[in-house]
Amino acid sequence: MSDNNSLQGKWALILGASSGFGAATARELASRGMNIFGVHLDMKMTKQRVLDVIADIEATGSQAVYFNMSATNARKRARAINKMKETLAASGQEQIWLMMHSLAFGNLKPFIADDPNDAVDQKAMEMTLDVMAHSLVYWTQDLVREGMLSRGSRIWSMTSEGSHRVILGYGAVSAAKAALESHTRQLAMELGPQGILVNCIQAGVTDTPALRMIPGHDQIIEASVRRNPGNRMTRPEDVAKTIATLADPAIEWISGSIIFVDGGEEITA
Ligand SMILES: NC(=O)c1ccc[n+]([C@@H]2O[C@H](COP(=O)([O-])OP(=O)(O)OC[C@H]3O[C@@H](n4cnc5c(N)ncnc54)[C@H](O)[C@@H]3O)[C@@H](O)[C@H]2O)c1
Repeated sequence: MSDNNSLQGKWALILGASSGFGAATARELASRGMNIFGVHLDMKMTKQRVLDVIADIEATGSQAVYFNMSATNARKRARAINKMKETLAASGQEQIWLMMHSLAFGNLKPFIADDPNDAVDQKAMEMTLDVMAHSLVYWTQDLVREGMLSRGSRIWSMTSEGSHRVILGYGAVSAAKAALESHTRQLAMELGPQGILVNCIQAGVTDTPALRMIPGHDQIIEASVRRNPGNRMTRPEDVAKTIATLADPAIEWISGSIIFVDGGEEITA
């Protein structure tokens, strides 16, 4: 059971819960007494990292209920939400206190290339936008309709400076980030009357598997350390601690914001 004024026993849903920011936030929230629903997409090669996150959550005494599925599959989403509803009911609750959207699955080709196979095409563009932006809306719609996101619940999305700057090979992801920020504002406005808070974190450059996929990531890492006022990269735990701190039920009037968790990297660009 959860008491209204503490995080103990409350549930969080993390989309992208097996790696990077999502995994760090799952661990941090569990260390503060929260139970975790995790959605992730892992094959054999990365299965161990999921098992490690689940083991760390359970070692704190919290529950971990993980779903290995594509977050964009509507049928699987409906099934997972049903299972979450049953799990909540079994713990005497109805509410997901916190939802984090931390999915990274984007096409990293340039827009312009002589060979069409070397450029972003319609399917790749749509897939990137669907996973990294639109899925935030669809999960939120379903959870609100089911009464699982309700007064006090908070939703976090994850953006990057790519939403407003250009990086070679990052065009489709940039578009997704711009859309994600727009979706965050729209949801904050539409869910305001229900007392649901919706915000976005712009993290600094962080060494995660997603960053390592970006062409030229070594230069991006080097430039980030050089220009960051704190002289280091952002760490997944920087974001995790911010989300966990702002999960405090006493925080109830931040919505529609983009919060920089980057040690000041944005202002030095
Ligand atoms: N790493 C950075 O420098 C950085 C900076 C700013 C913002 N971000 C953003 O933070 C978010 C998380 O990135 P990360 O660096 O932690 O990435 P990551 O690769 O470490 O983690 C991505 C997670 O998403 C899951 N996932 C991917 N596609 C999925 C799908 N279709 N269905 C279900 N799960 C899926 C993976 O299983 C994994 O758990 C992304 O939106 C990313 O753009 C990253």
